[in-house]
Amino acid sequence: MIILGIESSCDETGVAIVKDGATLLANSIASSMEMHKIYGGVVPEIAARSHIEAIIPTVENALDQFTKNYPNFSREQIWDHIDGIAVTYGAGLSGSLLIGVLTARTLAITKNKPLYAINHVEAHVYANFLTEPLPQFPILALIVSGGHTQLVLFKNHFNYILLGQTHDDAIGEAFDKVAKILGLPYPGGPSVETYAKDGNPLAYPLPIAKVDGDYNFSFSGPKTAVLRAAQAAVGADYHLPSTALPERLTKAQKHDIAASFQQTALQTVITKTLKAYKQYNPKTVVIAGGVAASQKLRDTLKDQLPIDITYAPKNLCTDNGAMVATLGCYKAMLGAKQADPYTLAIQPNLSM
Ligand code: KG4
Ligand code: ZN
Repeated sequence: MIILGIESSCDETGVAIVKDGATLLANSIASSMEMHKIYGGVVPEIAARSHIEAIIPTVENALDQFTKNYPNFSREQIWDHIDGIAVTYGAGLSGSLLIGVLTARTLAITKNKPLYAINHVEAHVYANFLTEPLPQFPILALIVSGGHTQLVLFKNHFNYILLGQTHDDAIGEAFDKVAKILGLPYPGGPSVETYAKDGNPLAYPLPIAKVDGDYNFSFSGPKTAVLRAAQAAVGADYHLPSTALPERLTKAQKHDIAASFQQTALQTVITKTLKAYKQYNPKTVVIAGGVAASQKLRDTLKDQLPIDITYAPKNLCTDNGAMVATLGCYKAMLGAKQADPYTLAIQPNLSM
């Protein structure tokens, strides 16, 4: 079963080809991240326009890579070897999702292939199926990205329960906002992680937000606590605009604030993951989404979990087409419902 997957929910245009949900045959990605950097976050209109420019070359590039992997396949007849198309139809930015979905619908109609509609957040979990060893059900998934913070228990493919999620900001979004307060470049997660290496995580005690439910999260409180701590550190009160902070904070203060925030944010998700592990006793634990690229999160979870945990390569943690194609393979192999290529609509607020 060979599936071509298309991802365009945010600022990455990703197209990949995966065989049997286990082998990555092509993986092409274009990103408009550089253009968003000057704004300190993703600008939806820029992202959508960039997808329009990037989508066809990215599809072509994936098909070229696929052809190279199979020298006896001719480029003209490459579509004969593709069994279906999978595409992210939510959650995400409307303008961005539209480009991927319209491309996938067009290809499904013109190439006469089955079409599978993919939930972006569910797909993040399937990036882990591309790496050894194969995750065994039940799987406890910690999904941590720029848009989501969720704990999900997968009993089997397509059969899962949402244990909890964030009430406000996603953890990645909080990393991005803290980076902005410190004047560090977007995306914030990697810059905060780099700065945190030379900082003292105990220098600025930050609160872990209390929320209802065992597995829910909140990251807007800790983010505001960082703002107040930074204002106090430069001897100002809450009237000082956050834009004035980067030039007034010393380098040492920035390192310490980055380390303190990272420690608090990661410990928040790790504590709840350990609690869910004890309650549900899963066979496998996976972490998925952009924040799963955090080496600090990987190392700390590995230390604290009683079972071994394997991680997807970091380029498969952030948005990509491979995770979409992998989930598409399982949908096709297990006979899941196909989408109608004439009517499939985007669902920007799709939930798990
Ligand atoms: O999954 P993703 O690529 O896009 C969404 O679906 O949101 O995740 C992007 C998020 C950004 O907020 C980014 O700051 C965060 O992942 N991120 C990290 C790290 N690398 C990326 N957060 C913490 N530590 C990292 N090393
Ligand atoms: Zn994502």
